[in-house]
Amino acid sequence: MNLVQNMNVQGKVVLVRFDYNVSIKDGVILDDRKIASSLETLNYLIKNNARVVILSHLGKVKSESDKEKNSLEIVCNRLKELLKHEVYFSQDNFSSSVISRVRLMQDGDVLMLQNTRYLDVPSKLESNCDAQVSAYFANLCDIYINDAFASSHRKHASTYGVANMALKMGKEVGIGFNMQHELEALDRLVVNPVHPFVVIMGGAKMDDKMDLMASLLPKCDYLLCGGGIANTCLRALNFSIGDSIHSEDTEVLKKVQEMLLKYKSKIMLPVDVIVGSTYEKSYVQLKKVTDVSADDKIYDIGPKTLERYKNVIARSKTVFLNGTVGYYEDYRFANGTKELLGYLANSNSVVVVGGGDASSSVHNLGFDGKYTYVSNGGGATLDYISKGKLVALEPMMGGEKIETLDL
Ligand code: 3PG
Repeated sequence: MNLVQNMNVQGKVVLVRFDYNVSIKDGVILDDRKIASSLETLNYLIKNNARVVILSHLGKVKSESDKEKNSLEIVCNRLKELLKHEVYFSQDNFSSSVISRVRLMQDGDVLMLQNTRYLDVPSKLESNCDAQVSAYFANLCDIYINDAFASSHRKHASTYGVANMALKMGKEVGIGFNMQHELEALDRLVVNPVHPFVVIMGGAKMDDKMDLMASLLPKCDYLLCGGGIANTCLRALNFSIGDSIHSEDTEVLKKVQEMLLKYKSKIMLPVDVIVGSTYEKSYVQLKKVTDVSADDKIYDIGPKTLERYKNVIARSKTVFLNGTVGYYEDYRFANGTKELLGYLANSNSVVVVGGGDASSSVHNLGFDGKYTYVSNGGGATLDYISKGKLVALEPMMGGEKIETLDL
């Protein structure tokens, strides 16, 4: 796979796909880490006199009315500030005027095109990987670079389609620095992790995490559970979990039972929990996991569980944190998540954080910069770890092992 730093980009139109899918509230970007993660590739391209055209999606665009709130212009303005370089914005992304504008670009110019998902209205051209749109993107450039790790589990026109078409047209394609860092960090978990390897899995939905759990269990030494994942395991073992969030899918529960049986020496579950109640907002209690009653809702792990989990982490060499062990958005149930993040921040292990919720908790609870690597991917991170590949990279893989940089 070609790396951007090995390509001659001087005077070339380089089309780069980033993932600028950031959370925005009341016109304010809540977390700009995805924008910041594109700077290394952009600075490199500008310094080497490329003509840079940026593609990204933002949010889901299902109707005309979704367009305005998902315009990339706000991202463009933030990027200009971070990059300290002019970034032109095109309200359009698929037209002859875009083609003319790209032809007029000078070396070192940066142009961001409007949200690729605008093309999903009315007929899902981006998300269905339309061949005409893919060819149009490929025609715009001399070189296509995918630096959108977090979007690369999507077979879309701006990810898979354009790479495929560019290759067919005999153009160069490759990956940017952020993609290289992501693959390198996650390979520490996927390919021969250093043991003891501990996985911490939390979050609300078990159904989304079955594949991830199944792929990590043979590789890890311990899997520590919290959140909806732990509740589903407890339910599968016939514990009373009251009204706590868990999977009710009988197929999922059956598979969880099988995993619990097969890997009983690896999977650790809470022994005590902090519960709230279905009817009383101010009710918060510490309970043994065997004492949870019908009206209780499990919202966090308890102190004994925390100590057991810390003891296991203390002996680890590699840790993968995916999801949060409690409902940390409510301060009364934030202790487990905060304590684990704090403990991991001071650990000597390689600590990789992945998945949207875990990455957000790192940022929201003030732990930025404290771990070996925090992945920007949500679904892409889970896909890469469980399947060992990403669909958008397939056209450029040529069947060979990905070569990445050292961190
Ligand atoms: C993400 O935030 O995980 C990526 O940008 C993918 O977004 P999507 O789920 O809307 O495709």
